[in-house]
Amino acid sequence: MKRLLWLLLVGMVAVGLLLVGCVPSDGTGKIRVATDATWAPFEYVDDETGEIVGFDIDLFDAIAERADLDVEYVNVDWDALLAGMAQGTYDAAISSITIKPDRLEKMNFSHPYFTAGQIIVILKSTTDITGPETLAGKSVGVQAGTTGDDLATSINGTDVKRYDDIPLAFAALMADQIDAVICDTPVAYGYVDKYAVLLVLGEVLTTEEYGIAVPKGEEELLEKINTALDELLDEGIIEELTTEWLRP
Ligand code: ARG
Repeated sequence: MKRLLWLLLVGMVAVGLLLVGCVPSDGTGKIRVATDATWAPFEYVDDETGEIVGFDIDLFDAIAERADLDVEYVNVDWDALLAGMAQGTYDAAISSITIKPDRLEKMNFSHPYFTAGQIIVILKSTTDITGPETLAGKSVGVQAGTTGDDLATSINGTDVKRYDDIPLAFAALMADQIDAVICDTPVAYGYVDKYAVLLVLGEVLTTEEYGIAVPKGEEELLEKINTALDELLDEGIIEELTTEWLRP
């Protein structure tokens, strides 16, 4: 009899654990999606509404609808976002994240959804910067820990100024405190379209693909995201979002 009770208890605990495993960590049934909303037009906070909006948000909303996921966006700093994804703090992250080998060791990525590259932005009044080879001895602003940081760091003789976010780097450039900014193409175009003093150099210096990050071990969620993403890609969602959010 004792033995039977014991078995029953073990069984109940096992079922309980299984059930808990089905619910995201906060217990609400919502998945928590991290984004560093300082990267217009892909993810930023709308001044008027205070909401997180952008290309990536529309894309993830569409994925969530397809995959029947309830989403809560969490606005986090870039450093915390990458660290959090490595530790499984968030269920997913969409944040213009370039898929690259060192990140693939710490987190998984969805299929790629967008191609971007690094580009140099200067003040129109600057005449002696014409390409990466002219950046030696110059101060170059980047968002710390991004692929723009990787590239600037790889150019010999540049003085890399690392900022917590890209608006700070552009503010420094426009205040004439640094000589150039290196960042992703869509962000650079957004700034030059908005601020007439800025100029983007023609040459795109890298080819990078954005992916949605999911913690290691969360294969089921990754698969749901990929299935929905593949369908949406086939249906031309990137063209739609490009028309809506990016320059013609
Ligand atoms: N694509 C670059 C990278 O992955 C920059 C992304 C920055 N994203 C952001 N939301 N701040 O390193």
